[in-house]
Amino acid sequence: IQTDIPALKDEVPFIMGSALTRPDTLGVHGQLLARHFNGITPGNELKWDATEPREGEFAFADGDHLVDFGVEHDMTVRGHTLVWHSQTPAWVFEGADGKEVDKETLLRRLENHVRTLVTRYKDKIAVWDVVNEVIDENQPDGLRRSKWYEIAGLDYIRTAFRVAREADPDAKLFINDYNTEFPRKREALYALVKQLKDEGVPIDGVGHQLHLNIEQPPASYVEDTIERFATLAVDQQVTELDVSIYTDFVSSYPSIPPELLVEQGHRYKALFDVFRRQASKLSSVTVWGESDDVSWLNTWPIPRLNAPLLFDHDLQAKPAYWAVVDPS
Ligand code: XIL
Repeated sequence: IQTDIPALKDEVPFIMGSALTRPDTLGVHGQLLARHFNGITPGNELKWDATEPREGEFAFADGDHLVDFGVEHDMTVRGHTLVWHSQTPAWVFEGADGKEVDKETLLRRLENHVRTLVTRYKDKIAVWDVVNEVIDENQPDGLRRSKWYEIAGLDYIRTAFRVAREADPDAKLFINDYNTEFPRKREALYALVKQLKDEGVPIDGVGHQLHLNIEQPPASYVEDTIERFATLAVDQQVTELDVSIYTDFVSSYPSIPPELLVEQGHRYKALFDVFRRQASKLSSVTVWGESDDVSWLNTWPIPRLNAPLLFDHDLQAKPAYWAVVDPS
């Protein structure tokens, strides 16, 4: 890795985090992470399918490995995620009779899962994404029709936050979602957070994933979102930032056009201008991967060469990196 360039974490007024999306690459990628980042989010290893593949059978070897890497390097560790509709094993929603599980049993499973994870990582994980992607702005009440919702209504969210708070009163508890920069989704999430806070549900913060592309949306949308949620007196974090070089789900380049990397640098600059301006409302900014070679966007939504991050496929600094360290 380049050792003659500034460390990202020294150049920004908030915690600068990265997801660790490929634990098998911890060697040289570990060096890049340790040099530039003071926050870390295990990309998959704390999700339900990884941590409780069968009821009551917990598996922590991979999660421990990544969490310990963060702790050893003085990084703030984000736990991602306790409750989600995706990467959750089928047994969670199945009853003894092979039909759908009843609400009481589902919430008991949820409580056991949340309590076990949050207790295990009490001294190591500072922030949890307690629930992930619960909003669907196209529903009349703004709530995603997941199995969680269909079986338990809003009680699954209430239970998850209550149990997480009990298990670790010091952990910061977040609700996390994508597209929160778009006005309709922003307002649907705002209404839910407001309602839950009014009820006394212990929500500390709102996480904005920010999976963006080189054209969309304007950075001003992001700023409007941060200012909107600030009126609820919650902490905010950018949790999964990346800027795809594709603006649709189907195109693919045989190699990465250099002019797009310059354009991407301008996008990153506009975004970090907003983050710096709003730093009093934003406690951390996390990119979803340390370098382009390990980005999930090389396989999603289709397999294609992408370059959404700050370091390239060879771990070298991109125009986007320079836009972050030298914003003038
Ligand atoms: C992604 C991981 O990076 C991939 O490795 C995995 O195959 C799918 O999930 N929103 C989220 C993250 O909250 O958990 C997702 O992570 C990316 C979208």
